[in-house]
Amino acid sequence: MSQLPEYTKGQLALRNGQDKPQIWVAYKGIIYDVTESRLWRNGKHYEHWAGQDLTDELADAPHTHEVFKRFRAVGTLK
Ligand code: HEM
Repeated sequence: MSQLPEYTKGQLALRNGQDKPQIWVAYKGIIYDVTESRLWRNGKHYEHWAGQDLTDELADAPHTHEVFKRFRAVGTLK
């Protein structure tokens, strides 16, 4: 079984679409790479910013966590 690498909050924060080219979002301990999404361009998605744990903020969204299905899990959040 493959195990995903662990990242700290600080490492995740750099993948906010501003400091590094990658755009990552954490949900329930899993980090997803949403770099290819046009809806997350520059790390911004409506009023939400990438590079952090957005578990609690999903409640504000008009969609469920199903949206993460098409993205690759790149790690877990420490
Ligand atoms: C005001 C709050 C939000 C609004 C209005 C919003 C709106 C949308 C819309 C309209 C879509 C595309 C249609 C769909 O897949 O249903 C979408 C996709 C998505 N949303 Fe949100 N969203 C919000 C919050 C969030 C939050 C907090 C997260 C992360 C926890 C999130 C993650 C995603 C992802 C990963 C996609 C898929 C993008 C793609 O397929 O390219 N959204 N959102």
